[in-house]
Amino acid sequence: MDLLKTLGSIGLIPVIKLNDAADAVPLCRALADGGLPVAEITFRTAAAEESIKRVAAELPNVILGAGTVLNTEQVDKAVAAGAKYIVSPGLNPKIVKHCQAIGVPVLPGCSSPSDIEAALELGLKTVKFFPAESLGGLQYIKALAAPYTDVTFVPTGGISEKNLTDYMKFPKVLACGGSWMAKDDLIEKKDWGGITKIARQAVQLVHGFDLIHIGINETSADGAIAAAKTFERLFGWTIKDNNASTFAGTIIEVMKPTGRGKMGHIAVGVNNMERAVAYLASVGVKFIEETLSGKAVYLDMEISGFAVHLLQK
Ligand code: 3PG
Repeated sequence: MDLLKTLGSIGLIPVIKLNDAADAVPLCRALADGGLPVAEITFRTAAAEESIKRVAAELPNVILGAGTVLNTEQVDKAVAAGAKYIVSPGLNPKIVKHCQAIGVPVLPGCSSPSDIEAALELGLKTVKFFPAESLGGLQYIKALAAPYTDVTFVPTGGISEKNLTDYMKFPKVLACGGSWMAKDDLIEKKDWGGITKIARQAVQLVHGFDLIHIGINETSADGAIAAAKTFERLFGWTIKDNNASTFAGTIIEVMKPTGRGKMGHIAVGVNNMERAVAYLASVGVKFIEETLSGKAVYLDMEISGFAVHLLQK
């Protein structure tokens, strides 16, 4: 898979500032343990180059990038140390061209239509959007994205667990960057367990796994309608009859005799179908290809007799 696609399937890039290179490996290991095998180590400190070297040598599975890269010398240092991609706060054509010449993906910061057009001119289709929240956040990205249909964004700056979900729902957001996953005080205290916990919470927010509805298997179409009517009579959940099932409200779906699962099924909502499928595949889940539509797909497994499908929120 190409690197930007991999970053997109993870959906998050922890932005890391290290004063001591000795913290680099334990920090990146803590993030990976929480489900984030990815890091952008920034050239904001003198420890950046050595930190990148250590992570590249000891944690080869981490998708390792260098951030706050301000000149081509830093590009060369970062790449020699083992960085696989370069991130810069602004759009510096010299840096972009140099990265392209040596075949290293680059995410330059863009903050305006002019920046995006300069990036397009340089052959880029994915850019960092920085500083995201100060510029107007998601609302601004949506306006910015409208004329440039092929461009995807990596918003960074002011993103945290508080606003991540909204960014993740917008399909033009490839991934979000942020330092909240590698907080200075936790690094200082070497609280690697605390960092793993934040990473794990962030991964959950990326996908937004939620219970959307429960599917009950009925043996006849009439039985399905009768069951749904019972929910309506008792709880006021309005019925809606479809070809394959009858809904009572949005949370009960009574299946006519076609329902998957021994007992029925559970629908789990996700922020972004492609990203959720990539994540679940990475933890060993297989999917039933024939059930794949743009909005839903069944997992190739049952949990206590229940089939499970994902549903795009
Ligand atoms: C960066 O270098 O990309 C940003 O400073 C990270 O922004 P944040 O600290 O607000 O997450």
